[in-house]
Amino acid sequence: MLRFTLVYLLTLGCLSSFGQQSATNIRVFEPDQPETISRHIYGHFAEHLGRCIYDGFYVGEGSPVPNTAGIRNDIVDALRALEIPNLRWPGGCFADTYHWKDGIGPKADRPTIVNTWWGGVTEDNSFGTHDFLNLCELLETEPYISGNVGSGTVQELADWVQYTNFDGKSPMSDLRRENGRDKPWKVKYWGIGNEAWGCGGHMRPEYYADIYRKYATFLSDSGIEGGLYKIASGASDDDYNWTEVLMKNIPHDMLQGVALHHYSVIDWSDKGSSVDFDESEYFQTMQRSWLMEELIEKHTAIMDRYDPQGRVDLVVDEWGGWYDVVDGTNPGFLFQQNTMRDAMIAGLVLNIFNNHADRVKMANLAQTVNVLQAVILTDEEKMLLTPTYHVMHMYKVHQDATLLDTEVESPVYALDGEDLPAISVSASRDDQGKVHISLVNIDASRSHPVSLNLKGLVSGDMDAAILRSGNLQDHNTFDNPEKIKPVSFRDFRFRNGMLTASLPPFSVLVFSEN
Ligand code: AHR
Repeated sequence: MLRFTLVYLLTLGCLSSFGQQSATNIRVFEPDQPETISRHIYGHFAEHLGRCIYDGFYVGEGSPVPNTAGIRNDIVDALRALEIPNLRWPGGCFADTYHWKDGIGPKADRPTIVNTWWGGVTEDNSFGTHDFLNLCELLETEPYISGNVGSGTVQELADWVQYTNFDGKSPMSDLRRENGRDKPWKVKYWGIGNEAWGCGGHMRPEYYADIYRKYATFLSDSGIEGGLYKIASGASDDDYNWTEVLMKNIPHDMLQGVALHHYSVIDWSDKGSSVDFDESEYFQTMQRSWLMEELIEKHTAIMDRYDPQGRVDLVVDEWGGWYDVVDGTNPGFLFQQNTMRDAMIAGLVLNIFNNHADRVKMANLAQTVNVLQAVILTDEEKMLLTPTYHVMHMYKVHQDATLLDTEVESPVYALDGEDLPAISVSASRDDQGKVHISLVNIDASRSHPVSLNLKGLVSGDMDAAILRSGNLQDHNTFDNPEKIKPVSFRDFRFRNGMLTASLPPFSVLVFSEN
């Protein structure tokens, strides 16, 4: 049983008898039952949406931007440095409109399509199955393909699986070979539709559960070690009935993961600016981000009832901040800036995922390039790494590490009569035996001293890195792309297993045993 305890003090910080803020005690300790933080929690998402694929990842072979088969080399390098474990494609809502056979064969012969969900733009299908799977090979990442259930057929999806995975002779593997690829890519992760309750077909959960069973029946496991990993289109936010109906009505040997989508959005009809926001908006974004904790606990409780052995995973395959688009950009392209607020979302939510590593085995930040909470922004030949990228980079030490238990009595971050825990933490031990602790202080104005009890856990010394900036609204620009980046943090004491430090306002820190 994992133990992650968060208690938060209902006072505005604790004052010692000398009038100084006393330190928050954080205990880190070995779990009773070791649990691995799946590296797949650190997954990404690339949809045919706005400038994520076209004019993002993919610039085409004739582009002056250095590329490999049309894929930008600088993006590949940046994502390789993140060690991204998986990449979800082609949607999102787009997935349920996508017919994969339109995107294979000579590019000049491919039909155009209209992207009805995102801006009504015409696409020439020059980025298709081969382009995506070859990109995944360049990135050394696992592809996660979302299949078309809403407007496709069972045969179409079964053919796609055969095309990508079958090594022997068959109609689809012959077609793949005709298109220049001999060996199959062996795609393990398949989504059976996306947001079936909404853009994926406005289905009721009972109907979708039956549809899922039919699709899952005809997707061949052939050539995939351990079989395909099939993911059911999951609930939005607190739609607990959706999870309940799926867990009850789909045989668990047909189901490896159930999805969940939750965005840190203030109000769907008035999302606010990504850059020009006040503290009240910031606070609301943090409330929506902390909500991930409650959502995971409640969806997990339902899954526990139907699957006490924990065989079916929770896959949070869309998460992140969502604001109004940047002025002057296409409203259907979902282009937003990425500030220190987004770094707080990332640090906090990734800590939540780590701490729920027993059920959350996969997650996908929306989206990788130029869309929503992107880790990379591009402008013609220029590229920048966002604060969110840097959090992902700092946290990669947790990938496939063993989760350590933590106990924290967090002070509160309060605004207008409401409060939240100011501090979030998660910790792990990597395969070299080194301990890593990630800490986030979301408080907009107050530093919080912390005292971490690491007795018996750490034998070496500790190093630390910090991501911070002067203003919550700060972000990297193409003129100043390195304004925000992690720097070494030395302002801490580590003696006799006790680590003390003061966490600056809205900062993310990772302490690592060296
Ligand atoms: O990530 C953008 C969109 O958000 C996805 O296409 C959809 O699944 C969700 O509603």
